[in-house]
Amino acid sequence: MITSNPFSELSAIIPSAIMQAYVVLMFLFVIGGTVLDMIHKKSAKYFFENAKKAEKAAKRTVSGGEKMSMAISTVTSEVLTSSEFANPRRRVSHLFTMYGFIVFVASTAWLIFGYTAAESAAAPGWLSAAWHLGALSLCIGGYWFWFFIRVDVNSEGVKWYDLRMADLFIVSCLMMATFALLWSATLGAGNLNMLFLVLFILASTTLFSTVMWSKFAHMFFKPAAAYQKRITRADESRENLPPDFDLTDPAVQAKFPDIPEYMGTNPPNMGLGIKREAPNHY
Ligand code: HEM
Repeated sequence: MITSNPFSELSAIIPSAIMQAYVVLMFLFVIGGTVLDMIHKKSAKYFFENAKKAEKAAKRTVSGGEKMSMAISTVTSEVLTSSEFANPRRRVSHLFTMYGFIVFVASTAWLIFGYTAAESAAAPGWLSAAWHLGALSLCIGGYWFWFFIRVDVNSEGVKWYDLRMADLFIVSCLMMATFALLWSATLGAGNLNMLFLVLFILASTTLFSTVMWSKFAHMFFKPAAAYQKRITRADESRENLPPDFDLTDPAVQAKFPDIPEYMGTNPPNMGLGIKREAPNHY
């Protein structure tokens, strides 16, 4: 089952051209939703105004070469390895979700455009396998996040069945991948298979048509924000935050004489602070 193309069987009831038109429509929904989201929240305006403000507060000029190397590091670190997540469980679950989503969406488009027309050849087994494994990876990362990681369950007592608007993205992602797998697994099983197909289409239409209200567009905004953060560290504007002082450094102690007076010349490590204990006292 895993190496067969479910869309080629679907082309017996839904013409290939209709499937292709659906994919194009979803793509346009994502572009439209992202642009409307930016206009509505004025996020692009805020982003560029903030970048300008940071540039004014810069203590040194960042060269074009440095900017290029920071852009490359942003892609290889924050984007490809989700390095912004300090919590390793959240990071690994995000990697499963992100790569699963990308592989699933790309292979869906490839299978539909390349291998559903009457005259086209059978899809290569690895491509159909990628579609199934992409959906599976999205489910592993997503359900792990939903049932075991969602921070609110720990700190605020929000239960797994407590749905809110902010969950639109993850829930529709999960429903899409789950019903896609169930639809493929029940091919040939009559009404049950048709039910899963309808639910799969409903979930994916929800996911792609609600970009304006969901967290979907973070996949485009986060890389820009991560790059901008690197710039503010390099030009030392640091979003107006103070630098990380080493309290044992004599230069720092000369600048802040209260430190040696109250804490001695070798101040102890102040510890983990807020990170000492996970928030689980609800
Ligand atoms: C391409 C598909 C992607 C999918 C399906 C995806 C999915 C998700 C999901 C489900 C969450 C909530 C889970 C959690 O907070 O632990 C999340 C959060 C997050 N994602 Fe992604 N993501 C994608 C791409 C990206 C990219 C490219 C970046 C960064 C460069 C990124 C950065 C983040 C960050 C920093 C959070 C946590 C902060 C927040 O909740 O706003 N994501 N993502």
